[in-house]
Amino acid sequence: MSAAEPLSAIRARFGTAMRGVVLTSDHEWGDELVREYQSNSDIRFLVQTGSEDTLRAAIPKYGANLVLVDHGLTGNETGLAVAERVAQAFPKVQVYLASTEPGQALVALHNAAVSRGIRSVIGRPFTSEALVTVVSSILTHDQQAQDMLLAQTGGGGRVGGGRRPLQTAGSHLVAVAGGKGGVGKSQVSVNLAAMIRACPTADIATALADLERYAGSTHLLLGPTIAERVRITDWLAMAPDGVHALDPGDVRDSLIQELPSGLHVLAAPECIEDHDQMTTELVTTVLNNLRLMHTVTVVDLPAETTEPVLTAMHLATVVVLVTNLDKPTLNKSRAFLGEMRQRGVDMGKVWVLFNRVPAHGLISVQDAANVLSEYRVCGTELPEDPEVQRTRDLDQVTVLDAPDCPWSRALRRAAADILPGLGLELSAAGVSGRRGGGRSAPTKKRKFLGLF
Ligand SMILES: Nc1ncnc2c1ncn2[C@@H]1O[C@H](COP(=O)(O)OP(=O)(O)O)[C@@H](O)[C@H]1O
Ligand SMILES: [Mg+2]
Repeated sequence: MSAAEPLSAIRARFGTAMRGVVLTSDHEWGDELVREYQSNSDIRFLVQTGSEDTLRAAIPKYGANLVLVDHGLTGNETGLAVAERVAQAFPKVQVYLASTEPGQALVALHNAAVSRGIRSVIGRPFTSEALVTVVSSILTHDQQAQDMLLAQTGGGGRVGGGRRPLQTAGSHLVAVAGGKGGVGKSQVSVNLAAMIRACPTADIATALADLERYAGSTHLLLGPTIAERVRITDWLAMAPDGVHALDPGDVRDSLIQELPSGLHVLAAPECIEDHDQMTTELVTTVLNNLRLMHTVTVVDLPAETTEPVLTAMHLATVVVLVTNLDKPTLNKSRAFLGEMRQRGVDMGKVWVLFNRVPAHGLISVQDAANVLSEYRVCGTELPEDPEVQRTRDLDQVTVLDAPDCPWSRALRRAAADILPGLGLELSAAGVSGRRGGGRSAPTKKRKFLGLF
């Protein structure tokens, strides 16, 4: 562990180790957990049981605030069903699920579990560090979201006083997708990540992962030299066979690139052989680990319906479907979403974002929205703006280097709609402020920012 910080999140919150109870039919494993964590300073498992009734009695008896349920119970019910009931009955207890399911099934289980109030799923076997990392990350995100809400409400107005844990909060995995190349996915991804990281009101841990083929668009952030970039395929050596929770210290040291702004970047694979190595399992490992370490992870996806893209779409908490207004592109966007829906992606998390909207186009935004009427359309569209191309030609990030152009303003508003609660609303209202440390030189003359 190179960083003590993730470990301290548990003690910062509870002042002591969390008190856990394990529900499993695999009593050998349960006993092992109780033994292994006996002297752990963050998590102790006090007791293991195979019965839900005993578990329910043990929670108040031991003052437990953590429950780990084994998904593979012997009996009529899955661990997921039991965990859901326990989470409902004990809202202040953090309920986690452990499972031996392989890659893609584990992802599906995770999605199902999180929507039922279970905090996360961890693949068995896991190390004690991995579990502590998962729980710490969830607590950190809760805390950030809570602080943000308190800041918004001025810290007052809470019923009952005291610090109350949030019921639901978590990190955001934003997949930026499209049915066609050239619609502006990379432009949106790079600028969204840079903008969130530069949020003037909050220090938001942010990552950008580029799943594009070839060089992707991270050159806008990293400059054109590809040699030094950390790429997704660099993770293969660390996580060769399956879904792992990696040590965040190791990830920070060698598996992502930290820009001076603090934005973490993972570049696209360099060549086509690299890209072929981008398996479902690799994408799952990368995105899960990034998500554990960051409040927001933005993923730039290629316009394909390959397995890695589908995996990212499944894992995402928010999908931003970027499309232009012309008819062929709208049809491709529709076809893309239709296929994703058929393959089980939850369409409730999709936002359609219109980009390159001309001042006087043949197709109105309303007509275009009608073509995609089954999906939620973002109320702010991004205009066609020559500043986009100008800044890109200089390897600049539009929203940082031309913060006052119409496109940058619109993106800030769209981001505040799509990702509420992060504190982006203030910048959307006209404060483009950049917190220092970006790659490019600070803007010399800050124009007065009026209303839109
Ligand atoms: N709103 C816009 N106004 C003007 N040019 C744009 C706009 N959005 C994107 N572009 C240009 O379109 C091209 C494709 O954008 P890009 O983000 O690379 O698309 P994708 O990632 O979907 O393939 C780029 O040259 C970019 O500068
Ligand atoms: Mg692209």
